[in-house]
Amino acid sequence: MAIFDKFQSLTDNHDLVKSFGQSPSSLQFEEIISPTEAVLNGRRTILLGTNNYLGMTFDETCIEKGVAALREEGTGTTGSRIANGSYNGHKALENELAEFYGMKEAMLFSTGYMANLGAIGTLAGRGDYLLIDADSHASIHDACKLSDAEVIRFRHNDPVNLAKKLERLADKPGEKLVIIESIYSMLGDTSPLKEMIAVKKKYGASLLIDEAHSLGVMGATGRGLCELAGVGDDIDFITGTFSKSVGTIGGFLVSNVPGLDIVRLASRPYMFTASLPPSVVATARAALSKIPHATELRTKLWDNATQLYAGLKNTGFDLGPQVSPIVAIRLSDPQKAVALWNGLLDAGLYTNLALPPATPLGWYLLRSSISAAHTSQQIALAVELCTRIGRELGLIPCPLKTGASVEMMNVGGTRKSATKPDSKRTAEPKKPAAQA
Ligand SMILES: Cc1ncc(COP(=O)(O)O)c(C=O)c1O
Repeated sequence: MAIFDKFQSLTDNHDLVKSFGQSPSSLQFEEIISPTEAVLNGRRTILLGTNNYLGMTFDETCIEKGVAALREEGTGTTGSRIANGSYNGHKALENELAEFYGMKEAMLFSTGYMANLGAIGTLAGRGDYLLIDADSHASIHDACKLSDAEVIRFRHNDPVNLAKKLERLADKPGEKLVIIESIYSMLGDTSPLKEMIAVKKKYGASLLIDEAHSLGVMGATGRGLCELAGVGDDIDFITGTFSKSVGTIGGFLVSNVPGLDIVRLASRPYMFTASLPPSVVATARAALSKIPHATELRTKLWDNATQLYAGLKNTGFDLGPQVSPIVAIRLSDPQKAVALWNGLLDAGLYTNLALPPATPLGWYLLRSSISAAHTSQQIALAVELCTRIGRELGLIPCPLKTGASVEMMNVGGTRKSATKPDSKRTAEPKKPAAQA
């Protein structure tokens, strides 16, 4: 057997995607024009799948700070903080993160993926229990592989099911660490945080929340779902990333639990990889300092998200359960999903194609992430293109005849008057054997 034979099913899936035109994994942007536009295949394309929630990648102050740090401190640290020591910027950014979250301690990691590996994989060890949501991000699943703790999944966003799992562990020694996300990255749905906290408190468990998609996006000062829900004091650990609203790269862990510093000497993803370069640290610091005051950007982001969600829902697409800066069209036919993604790309709109097993319940997702930097004209064009191509592919109904009612959606998600749902469209696809 040849070394790559085990990837045959991956190759087959990739070939299927390629047979429709482009493949998401081999796209190459020829020019990045702005946070919302790039040139792809010689064509000006709207970017609607980059997680650039606040449009920070082109923020003038962030760029200037990054350039100055590059000139003053060089291109990289060339080693880990354990081996090569910290730069002033690393420590300053950790202090600023701790202050931002109102927590005692913060630790930097080189990516958000590594923050989850380094936090979760270290906090729960042999004899402990990790209780993770069934729709957890790949970094959380991989962190479980790194930990020696027993891993138990509970149903997605289901505090009752979590309580049942914790009840069974009630008389077992060992720490119980519950892991949830604020906004889930595939469908954009939020965690029922207050209910989750009530359960973890009842059973004396600890709670870690990954605020990757909510930092800068939710809460009066952009601290995320914990701030929005007013539950900061009940959270034991928060992980997050600089790769979305902060507009650069890097990850972090913050906590009020005394003694977090020891994790630096036990966490392999912290110890055995190079630390963030000075330019990235300077950029992240500049962006983080802006986030508490970015109220207008947050308002614009949510206005854009509402416009996209309502526009797509109104034309008949089956979407994730709530308005959020992640809007996902749910499809059960893989070939039509790939065709829709390609059709949009050819028309100048870039979205994410997300396929099982990385998606919940085996959905094929056309996932969009919205930015405060999008104009309402860009969002309107995105709705128009999705509608036109969705109709051509038979994914949504064609325009209704005179007299028929049109679905109107308000942001709370209540239908004012509804057309008959298409049973094929709303049918849940089968759950795949394994999720990422
Ligand atoms: C929920 C969640 N956690 C962690 C990460 C990893 O972040 P990073 O890109 O910084 O590695 C992501 C990235 O998509 C994510 O969606």
